[in-house]
Amino acid sequence: MTLTFIHGGTVVSATGSQLLDVLVDGETIVAVVQPGSTALGADLTATAEVVIDATGKYVIPGGVDGHTHMQMPFGGTEASDTFETGTRAAAWGGTTTIVDFVVQTPGERLQDTLGAWHQKAAGKCAIDYGFHQIIGEVNDESLKGMSELVSEGVTSFKLFMAYPGVFYSTDGQILRAMQSAGDLGALLMMHAENGIAIDVLVEQAIARGDTAPYFHGTSRPWQMEEEATHRAIMLAQLTGAPLYVVHVSAKQALEQIATARGNGQNVFGETCPQYLYLSLEEQLGAPGFEGAKWVCSTPLRSRAEGHQDELWRYLRTGDVTTVSTDHCPFCMKDQKEMGIGDFSKIPNGIGGVEHRMDLMFQGVKSGKISLERWVEVCCTTPARMFGMYPRKGVISPGADADIVIYDPNGHTSIGLGKTHHMNMDYSAYEGFEIDGHVDTVLSRGRVVIDDGNYLGSAGHGRFVKRELSQNLI
Ligand code: URP
Ligand code: ZN
Ligand code: ZN
Repeated sequence: MTLTFIHGGTVVSATGSQLLDVLVDGETIVAVVQPGSTALGADLTATAEVVIDATGKYVIPGGVDGHTHMQMPFGGTEASDTFETGTRAAAWGGTTTIVDFVVQTPGERLQDTLGAWHQKAAGKCAIDYGFHQIIGEVNDESLKGMSELVSEGVTSFKLFMAYPGVFYSTDGQILRAMQSAGDLGALLMMHAENGIAIDVLVEQAIARGDTAPYFHGTSRPWQMEEEATHRAIMLAQLTGAPLYVVHVSAKQALEQIATARGNGQNVFGETCPQYLYLSLEEQLGAPGFEGAKWVCSTPLRSRAEGHQDELWRYLRTGDVTTVSTDHCPFCMKDQKEMGIGDFSKIPNGIGGVEHRMDLMFQGVKSGKISLERWVEVCCTTPARMFGMYPRKGVISPGADADIVIYDPNGHTSIGLGKTHHMNMDYSAYEGFEIDGHVDTVLSRGRVVIDDGNYLGSAGHGRFVKRELSQNLI
């Protein structure tokens, strides 16, 4: 077993920051002690096989990205990152666990789709991974299948109020799935947009000749997100299912979530860096077809309407529970290009699994969130939310040694040919200059990134069998 000693750094947790040394034995953290402590006996800087000097750096739990779509079949194509390329890129960015979505399309058995996703991921991943299950068809069989999945460590289920004819569930189907989730104690994840009304708005926009990517945003207005979020909350309240609303972008949807939380309901909001940093006007409204790079759903929102500022505020106050990426990358060439002349044919999704830790650290630099809140929303709470704590999301004895050495005084330039390791032919964050740098990343005790070098390997990452959520009110 390799003994790894990380000394001199400031260990940051969700509850505080302290100068502490960390000892790792094999894959596991075995001690977190005051610097110079004699508790560990011998001088570990001399005796440990791997010694990492973290002086002046933050030592944080590896990032947990609770929302990714590696090689997801979607929009007439497939997300361009495989489990191999996507998890490697995640490691570069300081993320050491992802939870990806298994997709059930109508006619398939949930258990079979889970088996297929296990096959796609096994032996490919650079970091650990878990699965959520998308239920594309709520029926007697898939409802029965949910309990089997829970016992196999897939303890959260995503439904869609959007995408009629693809993943869409009716209110009756949602009610039934929520009843089952409530009985099992499993988490119900919701894509909350009124897809039926949106499809009419999309059709009308195309008929008017409003075919550019910008109109993807205007045909999915915030009212559609607020309404669906409210409806999901009401159905969850009725059934007792814990509800996790994914990729929230509208401030009004967050108001709904904040109200439900204030009432003591188990409702949680997730947002993503794209909704905090990017906008309808600047990105979706870019000249020509450029805006296609940022077509995703829910859509980027208007900066003039103040969504981004409000999202940061809710992140600060706690009503945004987690920040994930919703990493669903497509290349411009041959993929996004399918929607030239018709925005509704642009595959929906943005890639960003590599940049979440850096982008969210900018919130610390600018004083929008504290250092501890950064770790909380990017590492610890996702681990708790998705039943992986205390194995993931924390630096403490017994936890997996998923650790990032982060240099707050370093610098990262985001862009193609710079820090880009995702399998995409553009970067959604091209030109972003980051204060901070991921120096070293350990995944279960193994150094996978060090000083600009990738030292990991496909197949190191293991499936994480998850418990029920540990983050319920
Ligand atoms: O546009 C998005 N968000 N694509 C990924 C699928 C989903 O709805 O999360
Ligand atoms: Zn979604
Ligand atoms: Zn998604």
